[in-house]
Amino acid sequence: MTVGATSPTTQVANAENPLVAGLERLPVQPTALVIFGATGDLAHRKLLPALYNLAHEGQLPEQFDVIGVGRRTHEDEEFRETVLDSIERFSRRRPDQDVLEGLLSNLRYVQGAFDDDSVYAELTECLRALDEQIGRPLDRVFYLSTAPEFFPLIAEKLGAAGLNRREGAAVRIVVEKPFGYDLASARALNAELLEVFDETQIFRIDHYLGKETVQNLLALRFANALFEPVWNRNYIDSVQITAAEDIGIGGRAGYYERSGALRDLVQNHMLQLLALLAMEPPTAFNADRLRDEKLKVLEAIVPPTVDEVPSMAVRAQYAPGVVGGEQVPGYREEEGVARYSRTETYAALRLHVSNWRWSGVPFYLRTGKRLARKLTEIAVILKPVPHVAFQSSGSVGIQANQIVFTVQPDEGVSVSIGAKIPGTRMRIRPVNMEFRYGTSFLSESPEAYERLILDAMRGDATLFTRNDEIEALWGIIDPILDAWQKDKSSTIAQYEAGSSGPREADALLQDGDIWRRL
Ligand code: BG6
Repeated sequence: MTVGATSPTTQVANAENPLVAGLERLPVQPTALVIFGATGDLAHRKLLPALYNLAHEGQLPEQFDVIGVGRRTHEDEEFRETVLDSIERFSRRRPDQDVLEGLLSNLRYVQGAFDDDSVYAELTECLRALDEQIGRPLDRVFYLSTAPEFFPLIAEKLGAAGLNRREGAAVRIVVEKPFGYDLASARALNAELLEVFDETQIFRIDHYLGKETVQNLLALRFANALFEPVWNRNYIDSVQITAAEDIGIGGRAGYYERSGALRDLVQNHMLQLLALLAMEPPTAFNADRLRDEKLKVLEAIVPPTVDEVPSMAVRAQYAPGVVGGEQVPGYREEEGVARYSRTETYAALRLHVSNWRWSGVPFYLRTGKRLARKLTEIAVILKPVPHVAFQSSGSVGIQANQIVFTVQPDEGVSVSIGAKIPGTRMRIRPVNMEFRYGTSFLSESPEAYERLILDAMRGDATLFTRNDEIEALWGIIDPILDAWQKDKSSTIAQYEAGSSGPREADALLQDGDIWRRL
């Protein structure tokens, strides 16, 4: 059988292929985007600049209004000034004056506390006036970019004001992270949201799913015949997922002290990467089919018992050290952090996906703040060749193949292969075949939030987390949190800031596996 991208047979097959057909995009209807927490840090750094870039690319609908809701006192005009500042400072493009004016002229601000009924009355009036202006109901997207304790309250108030439905238009709610603090609180939050909204209206954000390279993981796996045959326990020895950061906790001690690395990055972003890497090919690229497959992977990860945790999970905190040539304090010396804090800034796990495809393959995950550098990657390490015929001719350095997806920075994919070193001897060493976004596409990737905001407005939940998925994610993490909580030993492992993490993490590795260099 010949497989050629341009052959007529393939084109016909593609038209009928639900995996490809599913990629057709839903249109964006006229929309009012209501941002709760519009003067907060996330809105300032990410959401408002993302809106500008969508406007710049002409991706927003012709009728598009933004209503910011916040506790700070602002007139509409002052709010516009703060939005302008966000865009000028954080947009990935230099703003164009016309585009900017177009966006800013459709901004409004509603001031008040999130528990204040008058806020919802004013919102109702504002939305009614906008509907009247265009002569039809606008779709509504309520974006909760607030502290998590306000999520249920805002949902309930929206429901009480009748803002959760609008005849003739779609109403959606986008919920930022963290979605819950553990399994019980995530379940409670799901239940509270589902009292007011249907699951199809709820968009739980994990910004990693909006990253270009994360979506590329799907493209590489399912748009190429090359990888799938080896994507299983017969050929893959282990998988390593790394999300290393060189930054510390910045001004977020209040949040981070309660969260820690396991909740902050593993429960959501890293397990999502694992699920996308390990899932079966979905029958269609749509929200339900894709999330069904991810869910099966998460459900196949058998959560550890409390007694098993010490042998599969390691936590640590950064001690003072040097990062990027600068001396930095240890975690316990950061402002707002308790002197004897036991919050982990580093977490490493060894997980197993207990299904036919992956049985016996360890999945190593590690994340940490103040590590040697920023690097997010997924490395798939293949098994060594079963027999080395060149051994007698003095071959050196035959290594197992590795397929490495670099999520950031320097996004791309590399495949290491053994090649003969030029010369008269049969000497072999690994070389890399590489694809880098920067050189292959010569265009800048959109920010994750651009893609996700647009998808929420289009009603496409493919890159958002479903309620059962959220609960499965917490189900894996909960016993680890529990075991750590119960562990009353006075010490928590430390690693020097700027290093590649604690030595204790080596104990997780099996059968001669080693952590990749940071
Ligand atoms: C956030 C975490 O979800 O992700 C932060 O709360 C972390 O602590 C950030 O720094 C990392 O995101 P990115 O896109 O920079 O990898």
